Amino acid sequence: MGDNANSNESSSPSLHLARSPPQPSPIRLSKFASQKMRILVTGGAGFIGSHLVDRLMEAGTNEVIVADNFFSGTKDNLRRWIGHPDFELLRHDVTEPLLVEVDQIYHLACPASPIFYKYNPVKTIKTNVMGTLNMLGLAKRVGARILLTSTSEVYGDPLEHPQKEEYWGNVNPIGVRSCYDEGKRVAETLMFDYHRQHGIEIRIARIFNTYGPRMNIDDGRVVSNFIAQALRGETMTVQAPGSQTRSFCYVSDLVDGLIKLMACDDTGPINLGNPGEFTILELAEAVRELVDSSAKWKVVDNTPDDPRKRKPDITKAKSILKWEPKVALRDGLPLMVEDFRSRLGIHK
Ligand SMILES: NC(=O)c1ccc[n+]([C@@H]2O[C@H](COP(=O)([O-])OP(=O)(O)OC[C@H]3O[C@@H](n4cnc5c(N)ncnc54)[C@H](O)[C@@H]3O)[C@@H](O)[C@H]2O)c1
Repeated sequence: MGDNANSNESSSPSLHLARSPPQPSPIRLSKFASQKMRILVTGGAGFIGSHLVDRLMEAGTNEVIVADNFFSGTKDNLRRWIGHPDFELLRHDVTEPLLVEVDQIYHLACPASPIFYKYNPVKTIKTNVMGTLNMLGLAKRVGARILLTSTSEVYGDPLEHPQKEEYWGNVNPIGVRSCYDEGKRVAETLMFDYHRQHGIEIRIARIFNTYGPRMNIDDGRVVSNFIAQALRGETMTVQAPGSQTRSFCYVSDLVDGLIKLMACDDTGPINLGNPGEFTILELAEAVRELVDSSAKWKVVDNTPDDPRKRKPDITKAKSILKWEPKVALRDGLPLMVEDFRSRLGIHK
């Protein structure tokens, strides 16, 4: 196979030292093959990925290729684009090399909810490490710009609040969440090493909790959990103590931020999230008011290493990307409740 991650590793150290500075990217394929920008979205069948694909396709100026193994995403999320001449869907696992000619890569492939990423932790870390190596190998080969969707989990259980990009984090390297948290930290390292060593154009987004329609109904993430439980008439389960805080960004805002980051001149990392901060109990209350005022909640045991506080400092996103979220939680939650109602077939 061609110039993938493995072939880079086989170069001798002396060759690395003798290497001349990074060369300019090869000619962009879109300049001669097509007028349209050709964009690969890994993980494009998932929650954020499918909204990103909608936006890229709706622009009318792009050809979009999605590579997804459908572990936590579904074809259903992309139904409206299947058969469109500017759209291709590949069943592909990013832990295997991929050769496609593209101008940009949005690299999202990775299960994001604890239920999914803890199901097979070894696969999760392989996805983060080998998947990112493969996508960087591809970016190097075809001269594509690559954006990684990293996470606020790289800050771990933060000792600084709110979290700025300069903060190095407080992560348990051997805990049950480490396959995800440390996996993303290594993925960020690989991005910067390819940038420094090979001149690859990289962009890193550190995404904070995002919510919206098409979230997997039973993925255990707190917003989807509460809405599904309240709609089904079940008791909402609040993980102890309930006073831990999160900030919730509506998915359309997040997609705006990703597209602006891809287009800007800064490598990042840049935090993308909504700085509005809510306790988990406040969120349960908001869902109860919206879905069913008689709904009940109970406090249950928490999972290990659950962060106590989470709130992005988005100064960098505001100044570099001219981006800040527009959708307040009270406006975004009803849209998600509507989507869950229709998928669960609960219309009362
Ligand atoms: N949603 C959030 O709140 C949030 C927060 C921080 C970071 N992120 C990041 O954003 C990205 C998307 O998250 P999401 O919420 O849409 O999650 P998701 O689980 O809905 O989407 C992930 C997609 O990646 C695919 N995938 C997983 N492993 C793969 C593999 N080995 N090969 C190919 N495809 C694979 C899944 O099938 C799915 O379609 C992830 O990288 C995640 O870490 C999300």
